[in-house]
Formats: sequence, C-alpha cells, structure tokens
Amino acid sequence: MTSDAGPEKGFDLGRLLVERAGERYALHARHLNHQLPRMLHTIGFDKVYERAEGAYFWDEDGHDYLDMLAGFGVFGLGRHHPVVRKALHDVIDAGLADLTRFDCPPLPGLLGERLLAHSPHLERVFFCNSGTEAVESALKFARYATGRRRILYCDHAFHGLTAGSLSVNGEDGFRKGFDPLLPDSAVPLGDLDALERELRKGDVAAFILEPIQGKGVHAAPPGYLRAAQELLRRHKALLIADEVQTGLGRTGDFYAYQHEDGVEPDIVAVAKALSGGYVPVGATLAKGWIFEKVYSSMDRVLVHSASFGSNAQAMAAGLATLAVMEDERTVANARVTGDLLRTRLAALVDRYELLHDVRGRGLMIGIEFGRPKSLKLRGGWTMLQAARKGLFAQMVVVPLFQRHRILTQVSGDHLEVIKLIPPLIIGEREVDRFVEAFTDVMDDAHRGSGLMWDFGRTLIKQAVGSK
Ligand SMILES: Cc1ncc(COP(=O)(O)O)c(C=O)c1O
Repeated sequence: MTSDAGPEKGFDLGRLLVERAGERYALHARHLNHQLPRMLHTIGFDKVYERAEGAYFWDEDGHDYLDMLAGFGVFGLGRHHPVVRKALHDVIDAGLADLTRFDCPPLPGLLGERLLAHSPHLERVFFCNSGTEAVESALKFARYATGRRRILYCDHAFHGLTAGSLSVNGEDGFRKGFDPLLPDSAVPLGDLDALERELRKGDVAAFILEPIQGKGVHAAPPGYLRAAQELLRRHKALLIADEVQTGLGRTGDFYAYQHEDGVEPDIVAVAKALSGGYVPVGATLAKGWIFEKVYSSMDRVLVHSASFGSNAQAMAAGLATLAVMEDERTVANARVTGDLLRTRLAALVDRYELLHDVRGRGLMIGIEFGRPKSLKLRGGWTMLQAARKGLFAQMVVVPLFQRHRILTQVSGDHLEVIKLIPPLIIGEREVDRFVEAFTDVMDDAHRGSGLMWDFGRTLIKQAVGSK
C-alpha cells in the first residue's frame, strides 16, 4: 500500500492480506497465468476462500465446501492437521542451522529411516522438492545405473511437467511444442507383449508407471506389475513406480504397488502428501546398488543434488505426517471409506444410464460417464460429444460445486471421467454428502432439460468458438 509519504515500511502479513483482499483475481490476471482466473470466471468457480480445515474450506460468506480434490492430492491428512502444524512451528522456532550443506543434519536421516520402513526392499532416499523432481531423479538414476538411455512409459501416463518427466508423458496435449524431448517410448498399460518387444532391443534403462493412472483412474490389470517386473529383470532393466499421487496411503495401501504380492520396484518416486500439504517435498527411494553407482566416489558427491532438498521444514512436516498416519490409521481409513464410497456410487450405475463405471482403489475413484440408451438423452449427449469430449463430466462438476459446494475435477482433457481424491481422513459424513449431491445432479441430468443442459449448451458454444 502506498500513501502520500511513499510505501509503508516493515512487513505485516496480516495487514497486507486485509488491505489487498479484493485484488486476488485481478493480481493473478495481471501477473501470473491469466488463463486461470479466466477459466474460473467462466465456470463460476471464482470464489474467495477465507479459511480451511480438514476436508473443508469456507468462503467469505461462511459457506463450507467439501474438498474432494485435496489440492491435487497433497492434503492427504486434510488441511492444517494440528500435529503437522505444530511440528512446523517447532522446527522454525528451534532456529536450526539448516542447509549448511557441509554437515549431516538429523531430520533427513530420520525421515529417510521412517519412509524406508514402509518399503523394506529399498535402502536409500534422495530428497527433493516436488513430484516431477522425484521422477527426474528416478530417470537419471536409472540411466546412470544401467548405462542405458531409453525409458519406457505408458500411454496416457502423467509424471510431471519438467522436460525429463514430460518425455515420459503419454499425452500429446502436454508434449506438443516442447520437443525434442528425451528419446523414450510409450507402451499401452497392461500390454506385456509390447513391453517385451521394446525390452528385446537391449537399450532400455527402465519402465516407469503409475500403478493406478491419474488420468482416467485406470489400474494396471491384476498380475501385470509382477509380470512386467519379471520381464524387466530378465532384460536387465529397472522398474520405477511413480507413487507421487498413489503413495502415502491414497489407494488403501501405503504404496499402490503393494496391492500385488511380490512387486518390488527398483525405484519409487513420492511427493505430494508426504509433507501433509504444507511444504513442497519429493523423495526418490531406490535399491542400495543404484545409489552406489550414482554416488560411486567422493568426487561425485554432488552429481545429483537440490539446494532446498531435505530442508528442515519439509523433513519435520514429513516426520509429523508419517507419525499421524500411523497414529490415526489413515491408510486403513482410506481403504474402508474408499470401499464405502465406491460401493455406494457403483450401486447407482444401474439407475442412471449416463453413468457407465465407478472404479479405483481406496480414495482414488473414477466415475465414468457414457452414451445413454434412451432417445431423450442421446441428442444432448451426441451434441456435447461432437463439440468436445469431456463436456458432460464438466457439466457434472459444475453443479456439484455451485449447488452442493463440493470440489471435484474432470480427470484429464477429453475424458468423461470425474476423479475423486479427497483427503484420506474423510468418513461417512462426507460419503453421505457426496452421494446425496451426486444423486441430485444425476437426477437432474437424466431429465434431459433444465438448467444443467442449458449450461451444457453454453459449454458447447464455448468449445465450438475456441476450435
Ligand atoms: C503420478 C504423478 N507423478 C508426478 C507428478 C508431478 O508432481 P508435481 O506436480 O509435484 O511436480 C504428479 C502430479 O500430479 C503425478 O500425479
């Protein structure tokens, strides 16, 4: 704020937030990615939120919103968990000599020990600051350790958006215009023959996959991970599990690959929920021999490092998060509550012809819509599909938010799938609220006319206009 006497001196965060409260959307439009406020205005998501706790946040009028998105999965414990919050206050108040870079502070070792306890076949951890960085590290480690160059990945895969991670992204929409990327190759998820064909070429360092793909919520078919692991071992290539979204209990196991017995990836990437959502964090866990190759001599001590990696705030938040997960049995809750939510939603498939499938594991759930049988609905559906695939799912996300104050997302471009990744602490109350709201929106959609379809026509106009 400036006055006649010039800018006010000193820094007061509370005052700044109050003084500039009305400018958040304008500031974003002016200085950051201007398409975000534009998109939010278009779909009526342009709220002003005041505070958040657990699985809810509240707008300036005091209305509560149920969060079924968890900040793209970072708030596994919900927002502002008191134990994580206290750990952060404590670590800042402790005034530690952090990041000297020439000592071995206690917190990274403690978090490494605790994290590795969940995957006993892995022996070492590299800490970084995000999911994409954890994936970049995994790709570099695999290449160096095997002396090979090529990485295999799945169609529709998402592993982050920096250049290396983008090279193993299975969607053209993300890649286009950013090439040339690394020389990597895609195989369909679940296709062992395609995997073996590529492996036989003898130049593959690793195969990276999400045990359940974020895009569309597609799980690897039963037995696929173990069979893929056997093929990889036979061809001396590594298995990288990207658990950035699925890890830390999301799917009802600590890691999603643990759903299948005998799967022991050589490298595992995690991030998101590891710090309870407060502090950016990422971690790449690997077998000991991989670290021994990468860091093979004292000269190579900094061959792969990150200035902020293993900072005290991230490590303290990570330790507190893992402690809370154990104390509050978060993983078991994700399994039980996820089963309940999925079962109740799956029971609606027979009732609603536009609802085709409910799938996923734990609290990672995909709701897929598809072509209706009745003539009454088919016209509207066909018009939406002709304009742009994914518009019907958007038509559902919007009333869930505007009418029922529930935040969800369409699970990727051109997909008729909504993805639910709520905080892992939700219970029956949230399941009831979601199922009731979803039923109301589905009832509305199956009338074939009314506000929801009017909105569909607006979406069609926009989609056609932007072609
Ligand atoms: C499976 C997976 N890997 C990697 C990433 C990238 O993580 P970040 O956004 O922290 O870079 C994501 C993000 O959504 C993800 O879902």
